[in-house]
Amino acid sequence: MSDATPSEELVLTFLAEAGEAFVSGEAISDKLGLTRAAVWKHVEALRGQGYRIEAVPARGYRLAEVPDRLGPLELRPLLNTHDVGREIHWYEELGSTSDRAKELADDGAEHGEVVIAEAQTAGRGRRGRVWASPPRRNVTFSVVLRPDLPPGRAPELTLVASIAVCEALRQAGVDAGIKWPNDVLVGGRKIAGILTELAAEPDRVHWVVIGVGVNVNARAEDFPPELRGQATSLLIERGGPAPRALFAVACLTALEEWLDRHAEEGFGAIRAAWRERNVTLGQQVLVQADGRDIRGTAVDLDEQGALLVRDAGGLQRILAGDVTLLRGA
Ligand code: BTN
Repeated sequence: MSDATPSEELVLTFLAEAGEAFVSGEAISDKLGLTRAAVWKHVEALRGQGYRIEAVPARGYRLAEVPDRLGPLELRPLLNTHDVGREIHWYEELGSTSDRAKELADDGAEHGEVVIAEAQTAGRGRRGRVWASPPRRNVTFSVVLRPDLPPGRAPELTLVASIAVCEALRQAGVDAGIKWPNDVLVGGRKIAGILTELAAEPDRVHWVVIGVGVNVNARAEDFPPELRGQATSLLIERGGPAPRALFAVACLTALEEWLDRHAEEGFGAIRAAWRERNVTLGQQVLVQADGRDIRGTAVDLDEQGALLVRDAGGLQRILAGDVTLLRGA
């Protein structure tokens, strides 16, 4: 977990809010009710944790550089959400953020708590696949949700998350689109994946954990050889590294915005937004679902989030499965 004390976090937040500007030691001590000596001590402690804080006589302090880390200390000053990220559980390394989030959810974690790791040793994808999570390259997090939804509607949240991640990627300057149900692609290659898990009774959801993995600064050699032609990252697409903390904040912010829209306007708004951003409809697809292969044209997303595919036998309704785009992706 992050090592900063609450007072160090206050000093850091104050400096982060000042942006490029210098703030005097006096202003910090007055505002935070600390002695000047205490401010200096906290600045030194923050420097020890990798923050570059300039100190110039008669001008004060300025936050010049933050470490490439996704802890609460880095994210909180940038995050302006009401629920998502209310608590950030940060780890240098975890097996899987979703496994940790599920444990926390079973122990009573609140709606919006986030587990984030710099590396995963057992990152999981959909259908039992492995999700590569090399240290400090990407953004991998899981969010605990406690939605007021019947279990049958929980899959809607997977589509909500795909729209949010697609939005954050578009804000980062890449032309991202969604492959049903929730893979996010750029130029036909996967840049982000979402894994949704839940615990429920027949009529009530206890919790939903949404796990999000986005390839941010992964290089081609960070992917397993067999995935290199199918995977991409922001770094590969933009030709240079992206600030991971800013990107993580953009994802969490977009997730909250789209969760709010889902809660307020229902699935209709999500369905419309998903259709606008998808790269599946109108394409020839191969769907592998329940041990059978369906080849046809993806024609629509229905009112429950199922994919409708027209094949030789008519209209097939797919609730879960893997889609391969056969051409035009
Ligand atoms: C997929 O496309 O197959 C889903 C990939 C989901 C990966 C994320 S990374 C954070 C969270 N923790 C995991 O173990 N998996 C998800």
